[in-house]
Amino acid sequence: MEEVARALAASKSAVAFTGAGVSAESGVPTFRGAGGLWERYRPEELATPEAFERDPDLVWRWYKWRQELIYAADPNPAHLALAELERLGVLKAVITQNVDGLHRKAGSRRVVELHGNIWRVRCTSCGREFPVEKPVGEIPPRCPICGGLLRPAVVWFGEPLPRGAWEEALSLASSADFMLVVGTSGVVYPAAHIPRIAKRNGAVIAVVDPGETALDDIADFKIRGKAAEILPRLVAEVRRCLT
Ligand code: OAD
Repeated sequence: MEEVARALAASKSAVAFTGAGVSAESGVPTFRGAGGLWERYRPEELATPEAFERDPDLVWRWYKWRQELIYAADPNPAHLALAELERLGVLKAVITQNVDGLHRKAGSRRVVELHGNIWRVRCTSCGREFPVEKPVGEIPPRCPICGGLLRPAVVWFGEPLPRGAWEEALSLASSADFMLVVGTSGVVYPAAHIPRIAKRNGAVIAVVDPGETALDDIADFKIRGKAAEILPRLVAEVRRCLT
């Protein structure tokens, strides 16, 4: 922990890369592993454009349920710790695969959302995007402008990532000298290229996760544990290094 904190405090362009595990202690279930969502649901039945075409009601029921879960969730100490690192001038940005918006709610300012955001919807007819403030009511929701079918503005399997977010993540990863990888299994591509690109460009990689991950092979440091316990301790150590 001390060594990681020293390297982080000495870095000039540190970036965090986060996944579902960072929100686990906010009560938002992860996708893989024990109790993960993909144990109970099949991704191809819920998180693909084909699934939405086949049965928009079913897909919307699932997203409404997740919206309700996330609506009731608050950022946990891991999100707050990352926001604090940005305020301290230590962290440049958070690149996240999460769609829950909890990094921003915790106060992180530069958040790159690779998989979209569950609080935005897009019209499948006219293409307009709208923010939504609370879980959708009637299912499936309709476009207020053209009456078309709305879909969640998130990335589904087989879809490209939002171009702007991807380019920003690439640029951050290529210039990062430290990457803090938190709570991701690291198996979903192209997102998982991001820490690998950072490593290739010379960044020190620290992985925080209670389990094994597919990114452990590039880790210079591995801290095993829950993000909400480890990250606040890391911030305390970084503060000590900065004074
Ligand atoms: P996963 O569910 O694949 O992985 C969650 C990771 O979090 C695992 O490595 C767990 O060990 C770890 N974890 C669990 N509890 C934790 C805790 N309290 N603190 C820290 N880590 C913890 O989630 P992602 O890697 O984010 O994509 O999944 C990537 C993508 O797959 C998601 O964005 C989503 C999904 O299908 C799309 O829907 C496109």
